[in-house]
This record gives sequence, structure tokens and C-alpha cells, in this order.
Amino acid sequence: MSVISHIKQNQERLVALRRDIHAHPETAFEEQRTSALVVEVLSAAGIEVHRGLAGTGVVGVLRSGTSDRAIGLRADMDALPIHEQNPFPHRSHFDGKMHACGHDGHTAMLLGAAEYLAATGNFDGTVYFIFQPAEEGEGGARVMIEDGLFQRFSMQAVFGMHNWPGVPAGQFAVMPGPVMASADQFDIVIKGHGAHAAMPHQGADPVAAGSALVQALQTIVSRTLDPLDAAVLSVTRFNAGEAYNVIPDHATLGGTVRAFRPEVQDHVEAAMERICGGIAAGFGVQVALDYRRGYPATINSVAEAEICRNIATGLVGKEAVRTDLRPSMGAEDFSFMLLEKPGCYVWIGNGMGEGGCMLHNPHYDFNDEVLVLGASYWARLTEHLLAAG
Ligand code: NI
Repeated sequence: MSVISHIKQNQERLVALRRDIHAHPETAFEEQRTSALVVEVLSAAGIEVHRGLAGTGVVGVLRSGTSDRAIGLRADMDALPIHEQNPFPHRSHFDGKMHACGHDGHTAMLLGAAEYLAATGNFDGTVYFIFQPAEEGEGGARVMIEDGLFQRFSMQAVFGMHNWPGVPAGQFAVMPGPVMASADQFDIVIKGHGAHAAMPHQGADPVAAGSALVQALQTIVSRTLDPLDAAVLSVTRFNAGEAYNVIPDHATLGGTVRAFRPEVQDHVEAAMERICGGIAAGFGVQVALDYRRGYPATINSVAEAEICRNIATGLVGKEAVRTDLRPSMGAEDFSFMLLEKPGCYVWIGNGMGEGGCMLHNPHYDFNDEVLVLGASYWARLTEHLLAAG
């Protein structure tokens, strides 16, 4: 492995920084302390700092040379509403909040790269260090864009990185095309007609209609979608009634739809509308579908993915750069940035994890072993894309 020695010398500080952020987790749009810490480190390195995008978002601006080329490197800062169950000293100081997705490591790695690039300036152009709030479900990236991220800071491409358990530490996974799915939500209200449970013929039963609806919805992916297109439709909520002897007058359902292409999202939504209408007619109830688009799919552009793969290969060798991993059905709001700019989102191996510990698990912890590697990746990517001369 050929990490940057300048960054390696800084390893202990990066570990301390990462653990400090881990111990002080802050959830969506409340990343005040983390944001202040980011500003402090960037400012100490002599990097121009802009605050206030999406509230707690921070953009560091570092220029070198005269070229008008510019790139954005993005890290997310937010934690999750999870009660941490780790015993170590840097465990969360706040009950019910936890860095269970490794965003503490993302923030520390980008800060490590920023310090190095500020100290060495071995590039020609502008690098924007984008520290975003609220990746977990609240779309902080989208809000930063709405607040003018790409108007105020003009850049040609944007890059992201996520730690990935199940991939050994010291490896990367870099794939062109889709890497994370889109995540939509839906709510369905079935309005029937309440009745005595002993006299169902006097009502219109929303539970029976809802049960049929859940079954019918499962045929969308299995029976109407091209088998080579991936999608998931999960009904995760089904609420109706309170009594043993009363047929309720309404039922509510909810869930999520995942896919990799907007056309598939359109297809699933239209099919859901159609089936809801059919169930309504068949059961003599009213069915209202509220389908809401959430995060788009995260799709790497081919040219940028190729560049990122080469940078990772330069650091860890060809054998340690995976290009064959399947995309994840999880979602990521960096996708909003990739809708605006070409770019690439890579996974950095976090190790196999004790007991196969996955992201969002109360036992999760970012692997400090990969901090220097991740920071070196950011630095090398910048020095390549904005190569002097
Ligand atoms: Ni995450």
C-alpha cells in the first residue's frame, strides 16, 4: 500500500479527531459542533471557509496555481438516532445518537486530505471540500444544492466516498453506473365502511381490501417488470382497527420502493395506481395512493469511475480494487449531486466487522485503520484531476 507519508505522519491526530466526532454525534441538520470543528480545522490549515449552506453545511475552498479547473470532494457529517451499544471509550456521549454509518470517518478523512493539500499545494486549480449535513434520510445534499452549492462554487465534477463493511480494510470498490438505489416512499389510505364484525355484509371491509392490495402489489416487480431490471417494493406498515368485534372504516399502508432507473420508478408508481384503482373497484372501497420520490439512484459516470479506479489502484494495487460488487439497494443523497455533475462515489473497505456488523448497527464503528488511506485517496484524486502543468 502506498499511502501518502505526509498524511501517515498525521495518523494519530486523525484518529483522535475521528473518535472525538464519534463521541459527539449529531443528527440531521443539528451538526453544530461537528460543523464548528470542521471550520476550525479548515481555518487552521489556511483554507477559506463558507458556512450556512443547508444550515450546518460547510464548504472549504482551496486554490492553487492559475487554472480554472475545479472539483468538489464531499463528506457527510451526520449521525443516526440509534442507541450505541459499543463499550469503548469513544462511544457516543449522547443517548439515542450514534455514528453508526461511519460519517465520523468520512469527515475526518476529508479533513486529513484538506490539511495535506493546503500544506503542499501540489495542484493547479480549485478544490472544494464539501461537508454536508443530514445524509440520513433528510437529503442534506439536496438542500445544499438548493442553497446554491453549484452556483456559488463552480466545479466540473464531484466525488464521494463511503466506508463499506464486508469489504476488507485496504480495499476499494469502484463501479461505473448505478451503485445505490433510489428510495421512494408511499402511503395508501383505504376508506371502507365500518360495521359490526358479526355483520360484515353491512360494511365494506378495508382490512380485506388491504390484504388483497398487499398481495397484488407484490406482483408488480415479479410479474410486470422486465426481470433484468431490479426493483424492490416493500409494504412495511399496515394499520387498521382497534377492537376484536368491529370492522374498521379505514386502513393505512405504507412502504418503500427501490430501483436504479427513473423509468422503473415511473413503471412501479403507475402500476401501483392501477392496482389501487382495481382493488377499490373490486372491494367497493376508496383507495388513495400518495407516492413520493425520495433519493434518486446514485449513478457514477463512466469516465470519472475509471479515473477513481486508477487512483485507488495506485494506492492499493489492482487486486485490491473491486469492480465486481453488486450495487446496493440502500440509498445515498450524494445522488442529488451526481444529477448535477459528473462524478463517482466509491466504497472504501471498512473490514469484515465483528459478527458481520453492518452499517446502522448499534455496534458499528468506523475502522481507524483506513483513515490515512481514505485521506490519501482524496489527495491523490485531487492531484491527478488538477495536475499541475
Ligand atoms: Ni452513510
